Amino acid sequence: MKLIVTGATGFVGAEIVRLALSNKAITSIIALARKPVEAPDNAGPDADTAKLHSIVIEDWMAEYPQSVKEQIKGADACIWNLAITPTKSMNMDFSEVTKVCHGYTLNGIRNMTGVVNEPFRFIYTSGIAVERDQSKNIHTQPLAEYRHMRVYGSLPRAIQSTDVLDQGRTENDLLEFAQHHETGIEVVSTRPGGIEGPGHPFKPEMGPIWKGLGLEDIHVWLHVSQLAAAMIELSVNGFTKDILWPKELVELGNRVISKEDYVS
Ligand SMILES: NC(=O)c1ccc[n+]([C@@H]2O[C@H](COP(=O)([O-])OP(=O)(O)OC[C@H]3O[C@@H](n4cnc5c(N)ncnc54)[C@H](OP(=O)(O)O)[C@@H]3O)[C@@H](O)[C@H]2O)c1
Repeated sequence: MKLIVTGATGFVGAEIVRLALSNKAITSIIALARKPVEAPDNAGPDADTAKLHSIVIEDWMAEYPQSVKEQIKGADACIWNLAITPTKSMNMDFSEVTKVCHGYTLNGIRNMTGVVNEPFRFIYTSGIAVERDQSKNIHTQPLAEYRHMRVYGSLPRAIQSTDVLDQGRTENDLLEFAQHHETGIEVVSTRPGGIEGPGHPFKPEMGPIWKGLGLEDIHVWLHVSQLAAAMIELSVNGFTKDILWPKELVELGNRVISKEDYVS
């Protein structure tokens, strides 16, 4: 199968590429990024680095050039990791964060539809703290605006600017898009919490923050290799739900990867 990966220069996306290079079910990996993506040095003895094709996109809000469409043609799945993380978003203009997190994602799935195979599986990397229940008042909680934008975009600061409001609702808009293409686009959101891995240690200080959001710390953390393996499995064998939580991602990841295959 042919797999598209975005955000492959980042923490999670790089691990997806590393594991996908050794996965026999995946015959081609199209890495879409704003800079070239190279096969990692730690790819392992079974890795087939010839499967990796790096495609640079300059304008993520425009229609993808014909040359890019030619490359993604016939793809069977996409794992979308391109985003500005909550921590990085704190020092940025929120409309730019919304454009990247929401605008690039929706423009991406629109450009893929029509040239990719059907069914096409779109695995969206979201986060545990995003809030789907619009009736819940989370306005006083940390990163409330960001958390709604990844799902809704309907918070006080966003409401002041209609263009930002229109660009919100990422998870829901992806699902709605898939419903309108009922013959072939399947969307799932993975909702990791804290992700551990090389250079990204477990942070006990996050405990009280997770608790404040009503989340139990023990169920929140997972290893980047578990997450990457779980998302590859979803792309290869499909899914029956539209959200996967950390505990489910850990179980799925553990089923398909052993600890010695974790990135170190
Ligand atoms: N890390 C965590 O603990 C954690 C926890 C829960 C959920 N998540 C979610 O997991 C996903 C991936 O996170 P990550 O930790 O892998 O993030 P990351 O390391 O910051 O990687 C983000 C990726 O997005 C790309 N990107 C960002 N802004 C861009 C722009 N303006 N144009 C083009 N590409 C852009 C980056 O490309 P460049 O390299 O070119 O900047 C990079 O490839 C995100 O949705 C995040 O919210 C992460």
